[in-house]
Amino acid sequence: MKRSKPAPLSVWRTLNLDDFMLGVPHYPEHVDESYWQRDAERMKAIGFNTVRMGEFAWHIWEPYEGKFDFDLFDRAIDLLGKAGINTILCTPTATPPRWLTQNYPEVLRVDRNGRRASHGSRQHGDTTSPVLRQHSRRITTAMAEHYRDNPYVIGWQTDNELNTTVSESFSDSAALAFRNFLRHKYETIDALNFAWGGHFWATAYDNFDQVVLPFPMAPSYLSPGHVQDYHRFLAAATAAFQRDQVDILRATNADWFIFHNLGNLTDIDFRGQFGQDLDFIGFDIYPMLYDEFRRTGGHAATQALQLDVCRSYSGNFIVPEQASGLGSQPSFTTMAPEPGEMRRMALSSVARGADGLMFFRWRPAHFGAEIYWMGIIDHDDVPRRRYEEARHFASDIRKIKDRLLGTSVRIDVGIAGADFDNQEAHKTYPIGLPSPLEDATLLHRHCYKRGISCGFIHPEDDLTHLKVLYVPHWVMWNQKWTQKLEAFASNGGAVIVGAMTGTRDVNNHIIREQAPGGALAKLTGIRVEEFGRITATGGEGLFQRSAPEAGLYVPPDLPPSSSADRKYTLEIGGRLIEAEHLYELVETGDDVEVIGTWANRFTKGRAAITSRKVGKGRVVYVATYLTEALAAILEEVVLADAGVAPLVADLPAGIEVAMRQAEDRKLLFVLNTLETEQKIGSLPHGKDLLSGKRTGADEALEPYGCRVIELG
Ligand code: GAL
Repeated sequence: MKRSKPAPLSVWRTLNLDDFMLGVPHYPEHVDESYWQRDAERMKAIGFNTVRMGEFAWHIWEPYEGKFDFDLFDRAIDLLGKAGINTILCTPTATPPRWLTQNYPEVLRVDRNGRRASHGSRQHGDTTSPVLRQHSRRITTAMAEHYRDNPYVIGWQTDNELNTTVSESFSDSAALAFRNFLRHKYETIDALNFAWGGHFWATAYDNFDQVVLPFPMAPSYLSPGHVQDYHRFLAAATAAFQRDQVDILRATNADWFIFHNLGNLTDIDFRGQFGQDLDFIGFDIYPMLYDEFRRTGGHAATQALQLDVCRSYSGNFIVPEQASGLGSQPSFTTMAPEPGEMRRMALSSVARGADGLMFFRWRPAHFGAEIYWMGIIDHDDVPRRRYEEARHFASDIRKIKDRLLGTSVRIDVGIAGADFDNQEAHKTYPIGLPSPLEDATLLHRHCYKRGISCGFIHPEDDLTHLKVLYVPHWVMWNQKWTQKLEAFASNGGAVIVGAMTGTRDVNNHIIREQAPGGALAKLTGIRVEEFGRITATGGEGLFQRSAPEAGLYVPPDLPPSSSADRKYTLEIGGRLIEAEHLYELVETGDDVEVIGTWANRFTKGRAAITSRKVGKGRVVYVATYLTEALAAILEEVVLADAGVAPLVADLPAGIEVAMRQAEDRKLLFVLNTLETEQKIGSLPHGKDLLSGKRTGADEALEPYGCRVIELG
């Protein structure tokens, strides 16, 4: 496996490795050594080439402070390597061992209630702690030096899913580090007081040493500026913690690739230093985790959404942990993939940008907090259907990889994403509205169902490959992005700007001009005169989003009152639909066409959706939030007009499509996410690289069946 220097971050970036990594996270320390040889042979037999190891084994690597022991992993790495399986090692800092937490209790995180973490699980270490950082550098140095010349160690994962269990810390070291971060950022306390609005509720400070951590609801609301900076600080601290390790690994062996496996994306700015320090990112994908507790649209749509979001940070990625079977921790248990579904889910990851993939995990643990988290081999060491599916997937990869590597994922409809400040700004003060991602999900899911290629992209990225760009209510708009939008529209693209965009500045202050302010007002041709809230269908009203932690008086169950249930409708494309969440009344310039109007109550007749011609394209403003119905109508009135069409016409429900392409080739993935056979009237002509057959009319896709069609 050869590494080349990574290109700058972009959704279009491909991986900088020359082969497709395929294998499993592996825990040789969980079984008797008599299993090891058989494990290696079985891995090789189905076409695996890589394992990932060691992320939770600090107690084995360093059983006492300063005493390192590499024996167990040396033997495991050597045996696997001789069988043809390379190793990715992990810095084991997600699980500081007991000697460390006992001798240095200050390395433990403190939660928002002031409770210090206890030993006994994981992610108890506080990444803001200088003491933990010192130990992290020590263990990383020792491991790096020991494996510097080991031919079987090909790369590294930093830590494990940083911030997934918990990202906050309210420890003394966090407070100190936060103050230093602020000193560096603001230089004077007056600048900080201005940014946070110190004259509001007498929250001003005399000097940096007085600054407190933002304890939520202790007893009431905090300034959005204070909270925003805390999350910026956590992201900076996480990046610095990782940077220590990256510096050591790079200086030891420049051929190693380095990545991190993302979990739930909290308090990490992947387009910032964190992502820039890595060769690529890894995204752990467990689609079935979300099936039961959210209205997600099903696990196939969720997986597609998560991977499209993940790709927006830095382009193609690897999946270091891909769900293989039933997953469980003591408080939950997911559905199990049905026969054929594990392979289908893995190919869905590839369709959306995975250039390497590892099934979690080789075999399940017999002890610990994940004894029912299944793997490729069962508890009794018997390879069954998941083993055969892994073999099937490995043979798929062999057939497609030469055409696959070097391609990126096509996006016709881009959604502005990957911006840390905008994600956080929403959370600091949600105004009872969906987050940018929740709103964008409606458009993404509509495109997913229709077979339209849709993905997320930062406005600073290369927009020229898109046909449409949707900006989902980014309150913290940076006016320099307006020029990018203008250039995109001038060249024929359609920009859609959502309500509330541009209404706050970088300090989370409301802007002083009429929204959306500055160049964006000019580009859209509208000015917001007034806004107000609309209840959402099935929504739980005022208290759900705006004050979840407040001890506010909530009246007992009463029949809904008409005053809380006002319906606002709007007319667009000849149809009347109900609006949700928000209305804005906008003033329109002379060169602005009104393509949708408010249709009832006092808003009747006012512009709701506008369009302004800009060069060869246009800029549309949507003075409300998306609903399913509105997303569908936007396809007709904006997307189609911009030349967007489904990749496969008349796509039956349950068929997922995505395209990977390079200048000289197009690979169309067609994946049946259902347990029943699906008929497709007409597939574009080409050769299915998996079966070797030509495609055409009247294809039947077997349950969970997959095609990878090279068009032409
Ligand atoms: C991931 C984590 C793994 C394992 C897996 C299954 O989030 O990185 O260590 O816990 O989930 O729960």
